Amino acid sequence: MSAIVWAVVNQKGGVGKTTTAVNLAAYLAQGRRVLLIDTDPQGNATSGCGIDRRTVTADTYTVLVQDQPIKEARKATTVPGLDVLPATINLAATEIELLNRENREYVLKNAIAAVSDDYDFVLIDSPPSLGMITVNTLTAAHEVLIPLQCEYYALEGITQLLEIIERVRLHLNPELTIGKVILTLFDGRTNLANQVMQEVKSYFGEAVSPTVVPRNIRLSEAPSFGQPISVYDGRSKGAIAYETIAKELLADVERRYGVNKNGSSGAGAGTGRPNTRWWQRKR
Ligand SMILES: Nc1ncnc2c1ncn2[C@@H]1O[C@H](COP(=O)(O)OP(=O)(O)OP(=O)(O)O)[C@@H](O)[C@H]1O
Ligand SMILES: [Mg+2]
Repeated sequence: MSAIVWAVVNQKGGVGKTTTAVNLAAYLAQGRRVLLIDTDPQGNATSGCGIDRRTVTADTYTVLVQDQPIKEARKATTVPGLDVLPATINLAATEIELLNRENREYVLKNAIAAVSDDYDFVLIDSPPSLGMITVNTLTAAHEVLIPLQCEYYALEGITQLLEIIERVRLHLNPELTIGKVILTLFDGRTNLANQVMQEVKSYFGEAVSPTVVPRNIRLSEAPSFGQPISVYDGRSKGAIAYETIAKELLADVERRYGVNKNGSSGAGAGTGRPNTRWWQRKR
């Protein structure tokens, strides 16, 4: 069986991409084999999983630019079932170095294909940009997960993001769909957050996860201990939100791809892929 690949993407900075990628990966690893790929030179997903970037000698850079197999570059984490392909600041040069490559959009997809049988799920954390790395990520993915911060400008830039997704779908990856829109950093005490939630729901419809991630101090503390929230404080509100969203993803996977409870069968095996155009609906 080959893994289902989710790309966590939003070119806006600080909307909760890394928090979402790390914590969903950790919850999914409770029972499934998961690879978290860090494609951000900031390396926050790497350190958030307890990997000291100073000790990393093989990373997403050596995989993308020097053709090192992921099998050699990945690292086990302290979370059973969760491996990480780490990122370091070296990755900052990748955008430019990929430009001269043949089939440069497919480099990550090809690298993942070689380890796809080792995992049930691959999650890719993205940098806050829409460059060649993000194009690689979207080309490699089955589905996009879009974290949106519940603030006034939540939907700003979303048109650009959807355009890139559509372009990748047309030219590089016809299977690509939007898996879920996840509202993050929600502060229910403000009217604004509630208004934004309504606006996002009317824009994305059923793709919006019914589970909203609250602004929760424990979520922001966990990375400095190199721990996913499941380890740091599994009873916090933030933990419960991500655990619930991970369960939603498992249910979606079963419905869309026909993956059974043992995790057998593979991506695309089932029927009933979601309509991929509903999100283009007018606001
Ligand atoms: N639900 C939350 N509650 C409280 N703090 C949060 C929450 N989600 C994220 N944070 C904190 O907000 C900051 C930004 O989150 P995160 O790093 O996940 O965003 P990002 O989209 O990955 O950012 P970047 O674009 O820089 O990669 C971090 O300090 C993180 O710990
Ligand atoms: Mg990040």
